[in-house]
Amino acid sequence: MRKIAMLTSGGDAPGMNACIRAIVLTSLRYGIEVFGYRHGYNGLLEQEYLGLRAKSVANIIQRGGTILHSARCLTFKSDDSAKIAAKNLDALGIEALLVIGGDGSFRGAKHLSNHWSGQVIGLPGTIDNDIYGTDATIGYYTAIETALESIDKVRDTADAFERIFLIEVMGRHAGFIGLNAAIASAADQVMVPELSRSCEDELENIINHIEAVKKRRGNASYIVVITENLWPDGVTKLAEVLTQKTKVECRPVILGHVQRGGSPVSQDRVLATKLGAFAVESALKGESGVMVSEVNQQLKCQPLELSWQQQKELDPYLVKIQQDLFDFIKRP
Ligand code: F6P
Repeated sequence: MRKIAMLTSGGDAPGMNACIRAIVLTSLRYGIEVFGYRHGYNGLLEQEYLGLRAKSVANIIQRGGTILHSARCLTFKSDDSAKIAAKNLDALGIEALLVIGGDGSFRGAKHLSNHWSGQVIGLPGTIDNDIYGTDATIGYYTAIETALESIDKVRDTADAFERIFLIEVMGRHAGFIGLNAAIASAADQVMVPELSRSCEDELENIINHIEAVKKRRGNASYIVVITENLWPDGVTKLAEVLTQKTKVECRPVILGHVQRGGSPVSQDRVLATKLGAFAVESALKGESGVMVSEVNQQLKCQPLELSWQQQKELDPYLVKIQQDLFDFIKRP
């Protein structure tokens, strides 16, 4: 193999730069020329690329974001776009394309492979951790840390005022950040899509919990962690309803995109480095149409489509602990 290219696509995640670095250095080590397309699939369509050398990736392992920039490219769904991309890749002599991103980006890679004879390999990079077939995705551990740091700070003011705080975390439609941040911050309650009940039930549940805890320990603060997109009218509205029903002041805090930024924690840097190196070595072995992943410390390749066809489950033991502790705290 003489030439490899890569791109970062979809929501950026801390550790993407560490991954780019590993791909570049591993490729160079095997004597392969390496290119980076900028702005995700848009760069592939616009031929916006750059050659990458060891110097290009010096001093980036600790940086959040992605030096290649990212984008969501809706037009890439069309056959015409995939054909243009294939032509551009061939014109540059690229033999393998590595795509760092989430399941949407992998669908793009699979789509491209229907029109291009080169190899495509996906590397799971998203803070949401919602990709089946890998223990963790690049960026996930950092996002939990960022959420946790904020929740710890909110707890100080929540305690001072004996208020309820609703903390909205990211996750699109997955509760990995929510559940883990809730456990690690000893939140009173967590609402995640995988465990969600009807809005009436959820509301009743929170109110009952607050009433029970109030009886037991008097005025207190409460932290409720909730995944984005879960409450139909939004968390600001939910906070108003809770204030009204419980007579305890409730404030919403939407953590938002802050969870996507910042310097990656060590687990994300290590995972990104492993997956980046392994993706290049897998390309050299002729793998294509696969996502590289790590399961129980074993590096693997699995068909790209499994990443969106199968749903990744929350850790059932973590769910049980959260439920057990929640029930125990409100016991009279
Ligand atoms: O996929 C990562 C993610 O940050 C999700 O958690 C969130 O729902 C979405 O991206 C936000 O996307 P955008 O940056 O386009 O608003």
